[in-house]
Amino acid sequence: MVSRAAIGVFDSGLGGISVVRQLRHDLPNERVLYFGDSANAPYGRKTPEQVRELSFGIVEHFVHQGVKAVVIACNTATSAAVDALREAYDIPIIGMEPALKPACDRGHGAAQRIIVAATPLTLHEPKFKRLMTRFSDQHTIFSQPCPDLVEILEHGQLADRDRVLRTLHGYLDRYDLDAIDSVVLGCTHFPFFRSYFRELLPETTAIIDGNAGTVHHLQVVLESLGKLAPEDAAGGAELRNSDPSERVAALERSLLER
Ligand code: DGL
Repeated sequence: MVSRAAIGVFDSGLGGISVVRQLRHDLPNERVLYFGDSANAPYGRKTPEQVRELSFGIVEHFVHQGVKAVVIACNTATSAAVDALREAYDIPIIGMEPALKPACDRGHGAAQRIIVAATPLTLHEPKFKRLMTRFSDQHTIFSQPCPDLVEILEHGQLADRDRVLRTLHGYLDRYDLDAIDSVVLGCTHFPFFRSYFRELLPETTAIIDGNAGTVHHLQVVLESLGKLAPEDAAGGAELRNSDPSERVAALERSLLER
C-alpha cells in the first residue's frame, strides 16, 4: 500500500525548513506542505497556551488539506501541544524533542557533559524536565536558552557574522567548552548556525540535532501504515508562511536551497 497524500510540516517560522531539507533528502518521493508561522514567531517566548492555540489552528488547516501525517518541526510547539494534538486528531503527529539520548549514547556508557541549546519555553516545559530526569543521574546536562538565534534567523541576519558570533559568545562563554562532549541543537532554527557553533567549539565536541532522527521516525510510522509515497512520485515542497511578504518568501527559498 502507498499514499500520494502530502505531509504537513510546520514551525513557528523559518527553522522548520531545516527539517524539510532533511525530509527532501531522505524521502525524496514525499510531497511536503510547509507552513512557517513567522507572523507569530518566536514561539519560544510565548506561553504554552498561546503556542497550543496557534498549533491547533495550523494542524486544523493541514487536516482540511488532506495530509496523511503532520510533522511538528518545532521543539517548542511539540512540548506545548503534541499530546493535545494527538488526542484531537487521528492522523500520525510526529513531534520533536532535543536529541539528548543520542548525545548521551555517544559516550558508550561513560558520563557525558552536554549543553542543550533550545528556546526558553522548551527548556521550562515538563516534557523536557522528564527527558532530563531520564539522563541526569549519569550525565551532566546544562540547559541553555538561546532565543536570540531565532530572531537572527527570522530577521534574515544569518550572514551577519559579528552579530551571530557575539550572540553565541554571550551564551557559551560561561562554560569550559574543552570539557563539553556534545552540544544538542534543540531548536530547529539552530542547525542553520552549525558552522558558527563549530567555530566556537573544540573539534572534539559533537554538534547534534534531531532532524535525521525525526525523519527516520516519520518514515517508520508511514511504512507501518502503508502510507509511504510510491517510488514514481515526484515529491517536492510547497512553502507557505503567515507573513505574506516577499522578504520572508525569499528567505524561505534561500534556506531551502542552501
Ligand atoms: N524552531 C522552534 C523550535 O524548534 C522555535 C523557535 C521559536 O519560535 O522560538 O523550538
